[in-house]
Amino acid sequence: MSRQFNKILVTAALPYANGKIHLGHLAGAYLPADIYVRYQRLLKRDVIFICGSDEHGVPITITAEQEKTTPQAIVDRYHELNKKAFEQFGMSFDNYSRTSLPLHHDTASEFFLKLYKAGILKEKKEKQLYDQKAGMFLPDRYVEGTCPVCANPDARGDQCEKCGTFLNPIELKNPKSKISGETPTVKETTHLYFPLGDYQKKLEEYISGADKRDGWKENVLQYCRSWFKDGLQDRAVTRDLQWGVKVPLENLNDKVLYVWFDAVLGYISSTKELSKIKGNPDLWKEYWLDPSTKYVAFIGKDNVVFHCIVFPAMLMAWNEQNDSTYILPENVPANEFLNFEGQKFSKSRGWGIDVDEFLAEFPADALRYTLTMNLPESRDADFYWKDFQARVNNELADILGNFVNRTVTFLHKNFEGKVPERGKLNEVDEQLISLLNSTAKTAGGLFEKYKLRDATLEIMNLARAANKYFNDNEPWKTLKSDRQRCATTMNICLHTVRALAILFEPILPFSVEKMWKIMNLSGSVHDAVWNNAGALALQEGSQLNQPEILFTKIEDEVINKHISQLPSKQTSDKKPLIFKPTIAIEDFQKIDLRIAEVIQAEKVQKSDKLLKLIVRIGSDERQVIAGIAQHYKPEQLVGKRIVVVANLAPAKLMGQESRGMLLAASDDQGQLAVLIPEKTILDGGIVK
Ligand code: 2FM
Ligand code: ZN
Repeated sequence: MSRQFNKILVTAALPYANGKIHLGHLAGAYLPADIYVRYQRLLKRDVIFICGSDEHGVPITITAEQEKTTPQAIVDRYHELNKKAFEQFGMSFDNYSRTSLPLHHDTASEFFLKLYKAGILKEKKEKQLYDQKAGMFLPDRYVEGTCPVCANPDARGDQCEKCGTFLNPIELKNPKSKISGETPTVKETTHLYFPLGDYQKKLEEYISGADKRDGWKENVLQYCRSWFKDGLQDRAVTRDLQWGVKVPLENLNDKVLYVWFDAVLGYISSTKELSKIKGNPDLWKEYWLDPSTKYVAFIGKDNVVFHCIVFPAMLMAWNEQNDSTYILPENVPANEFLNFEGQKFSKSRGWGIDVDEFLAEFPADALRYTLTMNLPESRDADFYWKDFQARVNNELADILGNFVNRTVTFLHKNFEGKVPERGKLNEVDEQLISLLNSTAKTAGGLFEKYKLRDATLEIMNLARAANKYFNDNEPWKTLKSDRQRCATTMNICLHTVRALAILFEPILPFSVEKMWKIMNLSGSVHDAVWNNAGALALQEGSQLNQPEILFTKIEDEVINKHISQLPSKQTSDKKPLIFKPTIAIEDFQKIDLRIAEVIQAEKVQKSDKLLKLIVRIGSDERQVIAGIAQHYKPEQLVGKRIVVVANLAPAKLMGQESRGMLLAASDDQGQLAVLIPEKTILDGGIVK
């Protein structure tokens, strides 16, 4: 059981201010964090949401050198671009800071000095690669070469992207300087090391308690366990670079802190900045130094080691000094990667799309919804243009938008655009009202467990149920036959619009604000109360505003243009799959799937594709025509038990009646296989 907390601190990985964020970044860490925070705010919990730009590190200095400008100019540009893109996407950070701020440099220096003075950081002389021509050491990505583990010829100095091994540049075979292209020499230098190995036991205890605390994701735990298995090594926390937080020691002041050492502390300095902005400089302590705060760190899987091992160890080292105690992450719900049309995002190959470019053409909520329904929560997932179109057209527009529009339009046409009076409720009304409340509960529970996709599906299913309620109650008929019933139906519909506005707030923050305005409700939906979503709170007789289109459908041409603009794909044996739009369980349950025994089978005359089967389903015998003659001889099927859609409307094929359809699987190699149950199940048996 997880504990009760008074406050929640949420951080999302600080993106490097070295390039524009793309859809993969959003799905990895930012959108999940925003959904979680928005949900917590609707619960009226005390939550703060912290982020900012990671403005140090070698990639930034390399970009500056390539563009013949300064690192500051690079980070200024990308900080602004990314901040704006996040705003357009509806990210609701309480603060979006930058690690180049003096406040951050002071925070990181203070942290470093505390560990240094306590004798925790160890000075070591080591050999590093040195570029004679450029007159500089080549840390991390300043050098490339062949991976000593997998022989990848393009491994970076800090890590081989192919096999994932973390490297010391000196381990590379055939190293080449990224600055001059020359083969570097080896030179001695001095660095300070953090003794990560000394914290292994404590970290193992911390991680092994993870499940008891907040149900960590299995993939995150496994990643940590594999690090422990290899044994944690000392890690250098300084670098021979000019750009970064200067090492605050006289003998080493020509070096900077390693970017990851300062970046994770950026969460703390960003919270300090927020406290200053709010005029309460000590406010950050109420979050970071209070054990009744729940700290949740949202990241992508490539950042797991720094958030689950390095950062907690740094905080443990600080906490050992006994003057103030930082809380550790209660959970690090890292997502896997989102790919784009079946392949990894790649800036150099032009594969993918940046957030600003996307939002210049499509609304943020359309993207938020599509990404939420494809979040890589437990395995890698994909963004496909066709799926995006289907989500917008068939789900947002046809289900949610349609329900809001038909409800409000009907009220304007027939009830002077006013909230109609609710009469006596019948069982069906009560059922929908109870669904409003149960959806809030179920979806809330799923949000709490970081199952954001499942939660969203529950909420969209409520919109599906709402359309069904509208259809089944036929208010256009009761309008004439029983006006009071009609008014009651429409009152419940409007309350469902209100509930949907609150429940969709974490996912569709822009559209729900429009829904709130259409209902002419006071205040903002962002200040609504989650647990009150199902309340019958609308004032009867109050005036509604005119409906407006919530979701515009996307035409084929628009999507096809994007698909045709993709660079040619790298050959991959994994064919991207495009799934049909999601359906509700009720839709699936309409299909009556049964086990049927094939009693007779013969070819349909004049057809080389069709077989005529007589099948028995319990007491019922019927004829089914199946397009499988090129894959099965009639005699191969007689006596087999197959699966049949038993309630399909009868059809005629080549003049032959077919009452049902058999199920078969096929692949793109031209194979076809009739589905046969793995054990004997008597005919008539239900398939579900
Ligand atoms: O992967 C990245 O984009 C890193 N800049 C994330 C840093 S998270 C934290 F340490 F700030
Ligand atoms: Zn490798």
